[in-house]
Amino acid sequence: MYFNDSVREDENRAPFPECFLTGSAFRVVNGSSDIETKAYYATQPAGEGFPQSVASGDPTSSGMMIWTRVDPSLEAGASDIEIGGGGFEWPNKPHDKNNSSFADLIDQGKTVMFQVSTHPNFSFVELSGFSPVWKDHDHVVRMDLDGLLHPNETYYYRFITRSGLVSKAGRCRTLPPEGSDCPAATIGYVSCQDYTSGYFNALAHLADEQMDFFLHLGDYIYEAAGEASYQTGLEARQITLPSGEDKAFTLEDYRHLYNVYRTDPDLQKLHENHAMVATWDDHEFANDAYAPAVAPDDSLEPDLKRRHSANSAWLEYMPSRVYVPSRSSSSNALKLYRSMTIGDLATLYITDERAYRDAHPCGEQELERYFTDGCENIHSPDRSMLGREQKDWFLGELKNSSSLWNIWANQVQITQLKFLGRYINLDAWDGFAHERQAIAQTVMNKGIQNFIVLTGDFHSFEASYLQEDYSRDGHKFGVELMVGSVTSSNLNEMVQKNLNNLFDHTSPLPQNATLEIFRTFLPDALSKRIIPTEFLFKELQNAIKIENPWIELFDSTSHGYALLELSKSRAVWTAYAVESIEEKQASKSLLLQCEIPNGEAAINVKEKNSLFG
Ligand SMILES: [Fe+2]
Repeated sequence: MYFNDSVREDENRAPFPECFLTGSAFRVVNGSSDIETKAYYATQPAGEGFPQSVASGDPTSSGMMIWTRVDPSLEAGASDIEIGGGGFEWPNKPHDKNNSSFADLIDQGKTVMFQVSTHPNFSFVELSGFSPVWKDHDHVVRMDLDGLLHPNETYYYRFITRSGLVSKAGRCRTLPPEGSDCPAATIGYVSCQDYTSGYFNALAHLADEQMDFFLHLGDYIYEAAGEASYQTGLEARQITLPSGEDKAFTLEDYRHLYNVYRTDPDLQKLHENHAMVATWDDHEFANDAYAPAVAPDDSLEPDLKRRHSANSAWLEYMPSRVYVPSRSSSSNALKLYRSMTIGDLATLYITDERAYRDAHPCGEQELERYFTDGCENIHSPDRSMLGREQKDWFLGELKNSSSLWNIWANQVQITQLKFLGRYINLDAWDGFAHERQAIAQTVMNKGIQNFIVLTGDFHSFEASYLQEDYSRDGHKFGVELMVGSVTSSNLNEMVQKNLNNLFDHTSPLPQNATLEIFRTFLPDALSKRIIPTEFLFKELQNAIKIENPWIELFDSTSHGYALLELSKSRAVWTAYAVESIEEKQASKSLLLQCEIPNGEAAINVKEKNSLFG
């Protein structure tokens, strides 16, 4: 067991046992085992007793994280104390046949048996073993099979309890070995899925795609829920937090959010069909959050306990290979940033743009964060989005890359976005222009080829050029491809709701900023309401395009997902829109498409929307 010193001193913040954190506490059963597996066999219909189904994540060429949660009313689970007291078999340690504690837990049914197979019906089980059901962590099971599987293989996995419950089978695919010849790969990606705003039709369609894995760029949950005075979501999708508050502050509240979100059949289907690579953005904790644990809408004082609660629930529910660095001074410091390689084809860099970032550059009032003239601080070399350690890591990884494509799983918009001379959003990279410039310099100076930034957060689809500086003829050195939201309000909905005086907590911009945009841009729209919304919105989109010429494609009227198909000759980006988020099972359609040729910072448009000329 490992406890970080600083955490031990703080009784308010329960530490994680290392075996839970690393997902490594399990016992592998090989062939003829001393462990009695006969007691664990399926007698119930698949899925019963597993209300959040299954999930997998962070594929490597030799493994995968796998996850489930067992209904606590049906299975007792094992507490941290019981598990901490036993000598566990770790994957990197020799098989200990005399480990009676573990055998006891298995006998007592406080574990699940997992099975991994290349056959969907498990006719031959390649790998099986046991893992605790973590009673102190909301009855989740999470484990890391890295080192135990073969590369380039599609696997099926499931969990069985001693009482005969069996989960649905999940499917996932391991990666090709690092540096090996890899002709093609497909990555799906999404962000911003407010449960209360609508149905996850985008996720259901993404689940049906042929892809290697999907990226989640953040806002997997929204901390705000159930506020009657401003909740404008669907009646059938409302969430009441255990505390009764309109925002989550406690571990119980945050857990409840993940718990409810994961009961969604479309989100379950996506997790059952594909592995996820996740980072977080602000709403996994609180809107527009910054380091060390400030939620500026609620208080400018750091709330470390709230942050720890948010992070704990995230860790419990996400099949992600993240950890607390041993020298960390804070249990908040879950280290999310990491990279992964897909053969010789691509390296994916996953960053964390919330845990280390400085405060907003020009003040914390809404109109200092949004639709603002800006201030000197934007260009200050002392301010950072990534924090020094993460920035050094990121730039170091970029410099050492030998992959054909360099893909950055980024959260907030990197290209400049101004409207009527003002910055629309200083919570994005526009608020950290100096650091943005440092990244640009590294990419250009080191000749890093095929640099593609995948972005979420702004509830809009965009394909834009990365430029050395955001002047009309600034040098282009890469491409940003932003995915729209799954359900959270886009700019079009924001305009419509504000014209109807409806505040919406999932809008990409706060209401004050939206009203200020209206007052400045088209004052008649507010006072007389004589301008049709569609016309107003078209004007707005066109004005954005004129003022930000590096934006090649833009749509903020749709919800959906995006696919990035990589090959040796090109990357193809395709954005799909769903017809509705208010009805279940809506159809999808092609929204935008472009190609980025190998070796060229170019956006060759294949399909564009009529709203954006
Ligand atoms: Fe969002």
